[in-house]
Amino acid sequence: MAERLSLTQNIHSHSSLMASSLGSAAVSSRFLSSAAATKLSFSSSAASSRSFSVASSSSYSSLRCLRFSPLISQRRSSVNATNGGYSTAATTKCAASDPDQLKNAREDIKELLKTKFCHPIFVRLGWHDAGTYNKNIEEWPQRGGANGSLRFEVELKHAANAGLVNALNLIQAIKEKYAGVTYADLFQLASATAIEEAGGPKIPMKYGRVDVSGPEQCPEEGRLPAAGPPSPAEHLREVFYRMGLNDKEIVALSGAHTLGRSRPERSGWGKPETKYTKAGPGAPGGQSWTVQWLKFDNSYFKDIKERKDEDLLVLPTDAVLFDDPSFKVYAEKYAEDQEAFFKDYAEAHAKLSNLGAKFDPPEGIVVDGPTPEKFVAAKYSSGKRELSEAMKQKIRAEYEAVGGSPDKPLQSNYFLNIMIVIAVLALLTSLAGN
Ligand code: HEM
Repeated sequence: MAERLSLTQNIHSHSSLMASSLGSAAVSSRFLSSAAATKLSFSSSAASSRSFSVASSSSYSSLRCLRFSPLISQRRSSVNATNGGYSTAATTKCAASDPDQLKNAREDIKELLKTKFCHPIFVRLGWHDAGTYNKNIEEWPQRGGANGSLRFEVELKHAANAGLVNALNLIQAIKEKYAGVTYADLFQLASATAIEEAGGPKIPMKYGRVDVSGPEQCPEEGRLPAAGPPSPAEHLREVFYRMGLNDKEIVALSGAHTLGRSRPERSGWGKPETKYTKAGPGAPGGQSWTVQWLKFDNSYFKDIKERKDEDLLVLPTDAVLFDDPSFKVYAEKYAEDQEAFFKDYAEAHAKLSNLGAKFDPPEGIVVDGPTPEKFVAAKYSSGKRELSEAMKQKIRAEYEAVGGSPDKPLQSNYFLNIMIVIAVLALLTSLAGN
């Protein structure tokens, strides 16, 4: 423990060194330069056309939408005072992220997870972007939270974020492919998708988080929890209550440690390798909390309760979940009942992912709408290719004209009715002929 505490105390300088050895400077300058380049191109277009203002992060976001999102919903003239003048500027209002691009990005994240086994680090990425939230600060982005600030070097270099540059490296290609998805959304999308793909519960997510625009908007260091504080329960409450989370949510969210590993060269915690990690998958090494550390289940609670296996990690902040009387109620329950854990985890994760976020539109974007109604008539077609929407509508209209529906086979009495109508028409025709 003494060794661990001294490691924690020295962690800042240690992990800054590690971060640079992992190439964070190079990567971050790539992030910074791409953001700066985008902003520059906005500035020059503003200068030449006098149409746009680039003074605020929201106008930056709107302009990015103008270039990349099909969701341009309105264009209006407004008096813009944010750049120090009272010029009339045409602003474009649209969602922070494009729903179709969010869906496609999610598919790409799934593919990445299959090849890189990066579920744990994506969950940690989303948590560390959101977990800086301070409910006592009203202003955005000073309040911190899920706003994409973790992409900037200044925040990546915080001791708590050691190693997360690797997550950014992995996700950057997807960000470049889907410019209509904000970093803030992408981090949370990657985290929720990782939980679901690892066998965890479906998280009731919404999207549309606006990104901060520059490193000066990053939160100060020290808002995330430490793993070995002198009074773990007090520390966890201080940090998580500041985020507006309660004891149940602290315990449920800690259950995310069912995934992943701790690496001494990053956080200072954990063994360099164990029998469960020496062969990967992904980069080998580190110490996991559970045996199957890529599977999301309730084994974290079972394992830290039993503490039987020297190769499994128990941080002081994990151990306290079974020591503190209030935390213990939930920890015991989750060790017994995976369904209860999944339910509480899904709710707490969604809440965490929204902390401090500014949504555009304000109600957010839900990308998991109800599954569209299946068009049954299509299965009676040649089967070679899907019917066009126009053709489906035509077939539907024809079915409905005879009182039927393409969603279910015609009842035999419909045919009977048709036969009767034909017979009557034939009779009338022959009568008219006579
Ligand atoms: C309760 C306070 C918490 C503390 C003190 C804590 C501390 C840590 C530490 C020291 C590591 C090892 C990092 C490394 O060496 O690479 C870690 C990893 C991890 N943490 Fe936490 N954590 C906490 C809460 C959370 C929460 C709330 C979540 C998610 C909802 C989370 C998700 C993870 C994941 C998935 C990993 C594994 C990352 C990987 O394998 O790369 N943690 N955490």
